[in-house]
Amino acid sequence: MANVVVDPKKHPEAVLGDFKNPDPLVTFKPKDVAFVYGSKWKQRYFVKRGDDYYVLGVQWDVIAKMWRKYTVDPGTDWWVVHYPADPMQRPTGPLCDGCHSTNYDVATKHVTEWNVGCEKCHGPGAAHVAHPTLTNIVNPARLDQTRGNDVCIQCHSQGQPLEKPLNGVYYDWPVGYKAGDRLSDYWRLEEHKLGEETFTHWPEGSAHKNRMQGNDFVQSQMYKRGVACWSCHDAHGTDNDALLVKPVASLCTTCHNPLSPAGPNEPTLEHSHHSVGNAQCVDCHMPKIAREIANFNVRSHTFRFIPPAATELYKVPNPCTTCHRDMSPANATATILKWPDVSPWRVQ
Ligand code: HEC
Ligand code: HEC
Ligand code: HEC
Ligand code: HEC
Ligand code: HEC
Ligand code: HEC
Ligand code: HEC
Repeated sequence: MANVVVDPKKHPEAVLGDFKNPDPLVTFKPKDVAFVYGSKWKQRYFVKRGDDYYVLGVQWDVIAKMWRKYTVDPGTDWWVVHYPADPMQRPTGPLCDGCHSTNYDVATKHVTEWNVGCEKCHGPGAAHVAHPTLTNIVNPARLDQTRGNDVCIQCHSQGQPLEKPLNGVYYDWPVGYKAGDRLSDYWRLEEHKLGEETFTHWPEGSAHKNRMQGNDFVQSQMYKRGVACWSCHDAHGTDNDALLVKPVASLCTTCHNPLSPAGPNEPTLEHSHHSVGNAQCVDCHMPKIAREIANFNVRSHTFRFIPPAATELYKVPNPCTTCHRDMSPANATATILKWPDVSPWRVQ
């Protein structure tokens, strides 16, 4: 999170796109670019015009190692109708920078630092630096459950500001929100109607788009029971993928084990009917169904098992037939119904 936005003049190694082999989509050189944005899934390129930045119309797909067009088309985000189609009329200040910098000031367009800095999660720190005590700095883990997770959800969500436009400008981030506030005073999560597919949601309510971990997680029983984003992720950095506090294979069983009240209620975790080598918890409870770029998806965070019957009803992918490509949803349902530890009422 600390290294998404990088100036390629200072860090040429941050440029991932292939600028050696000509591509008709690519009409610029790294030297024309003020910032490169992203390194894990996709990289976008910003140019400076006046006191604003703009995103060029091409992006590097880091996973597939290829160039793809970058446009935000009508119907693919709520703010599109409020901006001209020309990308050079869509400044990043209102549309991106609030989440990709620390202390973006909408009046001066200045930031105290690019990327996710300490103050974005811990609030203003000057008083704490001058005189460090426990009470003059925000620690998300000491806030109540809602305000604590809100610190992460301010960026990891799709939503709309309550006040729009703000002084004539449509922002796609919660202007004014600081760590410790209630995010719902500034930001409304994107709504969803059961049975309807939208640019953000599958018809059964799971996220269909990237950076929706917050929209998903608030639906989970874990969120209601005090589990937080940082129960599983350490934002300050770890050696595991996705900043997990433990490798993915042993993370869930920290809390879900035969001695734990968190369920499922069984002496071992045999309810999966698979050995760990064949299917891990995350394969069934966090399927990759939220689109990050092209056909590459990130994991769902509702943690619910999406039954094969939901595929038939709502066209949302289910974990069983995603892995077992030759199995039909109806056969998968028939199989699950034979498992004594799964309630038929929940999967039919
Ligand atoms: C993306 C959000 C995020 C960023 C950025 C972040 N932190 Fe944290 N920090 C947290 C969360 C959440 C906790 C509480 C959970 C935990 O301890 O893991 C925390 C806890 C801490 C603690 C422990 C406090 C205690 O009482 O034990 C310290 C110290 C700390 N952070 C310092 C920093 C510093 C210094 C930076 C910048 C270099 C920083 N953090 C950046 C989210 C963040
Ligand atoms: C200011 C916006 C912002 C806030 C606040 C924020 N994030 Fe992030 N987060 C990002 C961005 C941007 C990325 C993409 C990073 C990249 O490209 O490597 C990211 C990436 C991540 C990743 C994936 C990293 C990887 O290597 O796959 C995790 C996990 C994550 N954030 C967890 C958290 C948690 C937990 C919190 C709250 C404690 C939090 N974030 C708060 C903006 C934010
Ligand atoms: C509401 C906060 C928010 C806004 C607004 C936002 N982003 Fe992000 N962005 C994130 C978070 C959080 C992530 C990482 C999680 C994810 O992608 O699922 C991310 C990821 C990215 C990545 C991928 C990074 C990587 O390493 O692959 C790129 C590129 C990016 N954003 C560019 C943009 C651009 C360009 C805009 C404006 C058009 C924008 N973002 C607007 C929060 C935001
Ligand atoms: C119960 C554990 C758990 C909780 C709670 C949790 N996550 Fe995750 N998260 C994971 C796991 C597991 C992965 C996938 C890691 C992998 O595939 O290697 C993941 C992946 C991610 C990623 C990277 C995208 C991807 O799918 O690879 C981001 C970003 C992220 N989580 C953010 C968040 C945020 C923000 C919250 C809180 C709103 C949160 N997570 C809550 C377990 C959790
Ligand atoms: C920090 C402890 C903790 C960790 C780590 C954890 N869980 Fe949970 N989980 C809980 C608690 C507590 C509940 C709620 C139990 C209850 O209400 O009876 C729960 C509930 C659930 C549920 C019930 C459905 C729902 O809405 O949430 C599922 C499924 C689940 N966890 C899957 C996972 C998976 C998969 C992982 C690993 C990626 C994981 N959990 C990691 C503590 C944890
Ligand atoms: C092969 C798929 C599969 C795997 C792998 C799997 N589960 Fe499940 N899990 C299910 C199904 C199916 C249900 C029943 C869903 C229901 O009743 O709605 C379930 C139910 C649960 C529940 C109760 C959910 C609730 O809403 O009350 C928890 C908790 C849970 N699993 C945790 C885990 C953990 C932890 C792991 C890894 C150790 C794991 N599961 C591995 C398929 C799987
Ligand atoms: C991560 C991938 C993955 C997921 C998700 C998954 N499976 Fe499997 N499954 C496997 C693998 C691998 C095997 C063992 C090799 C084989 O028999 O194909 C297996 C074995 C099976 C078998 C035994 C086959 C036999 O002939 O003995 C059945 C039945 C089955 N899975 C059904 C399901 C159902 C139903 C679900 C959803 C609840 C599911 N699987 C989810 C990968 C997966």
